[in-house]
Amino acid sequence: MSATERWTEMIKLEHAQSESVRKGDPPADSWANFAAQFRADPRRTDDPLVNFLREQITPQMIVLDVGAGGGRFALPMALEAKKVIAVEPSPAMCQVLREVADESEVDNVEVVEAEWLDAQVPKADAALCCNVLYTVQEIEAFVRKLEEHAGRVMVVLYQAPPQSQVYPIWEMVHGVPRLPLPSLPEFLEVLGQLGVEPDVEVVHVTRGRGFKSLDAARQQLARRLYLTPDTPEMERLQGLLPDILVEGDQGFTIKGAVPLEPRVVSWRPKV
Ligand SMILES: C[S@@+](CC[C@H](N)C(=O)[O-])C[C@H]1O[C@@H](n2cnc3c(N)ncnc32)[C@H](O)[C@@H]1O
Repeated sequence: MSATERWTEMIKLEHAQSESVRKGDPPADSWANFAAQFRADPRRTDDPLVNFLREQITPQMIVLDVGAGGGRFALPMALEAKKVIAVEPSPAMCQVLREVADESEVDNVEVVEAEWLDAQVPKADAALCCNVLYTVQEIEAFVRKLEEHAGRVMVVLYQAPPQSQVYPIWEMVHGVPRLPLPSLPEFLEVLGQLGVEPDVEVVHVTRGRGFKSLDAARQQLARRLYLTPDTPEMERLQGLLPDILVEGDQGFTIKGAVPLEPRVVSWRPKV
């Protein structure tokens, strides 16, 4: 199996496993319940990834942010660049992005509400694609379109799938190991197959993401495990919480979880 086939196969298997435990139909906008978590101050200075990305942008640049979400990176980049074109298919995410742009008076972001492969956008100086690829099945077409639309491509991925901290809890609740999504190692294999030799930089973070309260932990974990109220699985999670969470200054984190550190994979496409 080639690297691109393996990438797609991992996503299909993970999605099939999600469907096997999900009760009811998938939501029309799978980000609707999570979009509020992607709201962030564009002028924050305590985010190492934003600080790293700011250094890559100059005031003359037009930047594409593909899968921009609620604008966590599109908006800080807009403060550095001439313009940002934010491509984002989720209506809930686009709403958050537009609200934060309004509140923060950032007016040089154009939102294109579309999937990347359908988006009609001009060529830019740089394309950013941050924590998006884990579920992109048509990986070759997606990467090739990034290359066609930017002088420099910057893909941000974690060394492990974003939900990997929850994988051990999946097994405790559902009784089977969670099938992983692809992440950085598989992406580097894909790039190898496509003949791309990127630079890879690690951005060190000081703390991992946590939950503000026990209640927030219960709700967010339940969503990530596809649990509904009044089921044996939900009761199992409830019983596990005191053992799997630790409380710190910033709220609750999963015991033993290693903070996920972003990798910036960048290259200048051959023209
Ligand atoms: C984990 S969020 C990351 C959002 C933002 N880049 C960030 O880091 O805060 C992933 C985003 O990718 C978007 N996305 C998923 N598939 C996409 C596609 N095919 N084209 C464009 N965006 C996509 C989702 O809608 C979602 O907003």
